[in-house]
Amino acid sequence: MSAHQKVAIVTGASQGLGAATVAGLLTQGYRVVATSRTIPVSDDPNIATVAGDIGDRETAERVMATALARFGRVDTLVNNAGIFIAKPFTDYTEEDYARVLATNLAGFYHITQLAIARMVAQGGGHVVQITTSLVEHANSNVPSVLASLTKGGLNAATRSLAIEYASRGVRVNAVSPGIIKTPMHDPSTHEWLGKQHPVGHMGEAADIVNAILYLDSAPFVTGEILHVDGGQSAGH
Ligand SMILES: NC(=O)c1ccc[n+]([C@@H]2O[C@H](COP(=O)([O-])OP(=O)(O)OC[C@H]3O[C@@H](n4cnc5c(N)ncnc54)[C@H](OP(=O)(O)O)[C@@H]3O)[C@@H](O)[C@H]2O)c1
Repeated sequence: MSAHQKVAIVTGASQGLGAATVAGLLTQGYRVVATSRTIPVSDDPNIATVAGDIGDRETAERVMATALARFGRVDTLVNNAGIFIAKPFTDYTEEDYARVLATNLAGFYHITQLAIARMVAQGGGHVVQITTSLVEHANSNVPSVLASLTKGGLNAATRSLAIEYASRGVRVNAVSPGIIKTPMHDPSTHEWLGKQHPVGHMGEAADIVNAILYLDSAPFVTGEILHVDGGQSAGH
């Protein structure tokens, strides 16, 4: 930890990887702004919560305003909020398309723009996206082009922003998970999903949280897509 108590924003923080990330950051002494549509108020003085749809710029503005009012700065942004709709390409509806782009792309764009402006003014910061290894190993058993379209865009934007801001102290990285045990996946599917990984099993939320904590403490790492995927991106 640096001299000051670090402040992190975590999107999609009500459950799954986002909730686990909030818990992991708290154990490391961070103060956290946790946001999602349904997130409840917290009585923990180290947590501020903001309820809202992260695809709306107004939510991003409230999250930033809350971070500054409660904790005075923003050191880390974890862009975790995301939805996954797996379907054959021609079955996607216009509503599917709009929902996935709003959450996965607009939900990244607005809060990241506001956070990086603040980080530059502070002299530094770190942004980390949660993407997916499906981007690099399309799986005929899991057709999901909207995930590739949006999370692939986030991988590209990660490298682009890392280079744009490298000289101004802002690092930008991504964690690319395999399939992780969260409420996103019904337990009845776990055995089959585990077999989609070379290591033969699914990942745990802690695997992703540990990767985020590593990237946040790695000043020489930027523009990295860190695969935490049981070998998926390496091959089959
Ligand atoms: N689990 C996996 O196997 C896996 C694999 C690869 C990548 N990922 C990525 O990891 C991230 C977290 O996944 P997860 O498994 O933890 O998912 P999850 O259990 O479904 O949780 C998703 C979180 O995002 C929030 N959210 C969804 N839509 C939102 C919106 N429009 N505005 C604000 N918040 C929204 C949800 O909260 P509310 O309902 O309260 O809004 C929830 O907290 C996602 O980006 C996902 O694509 C997951």
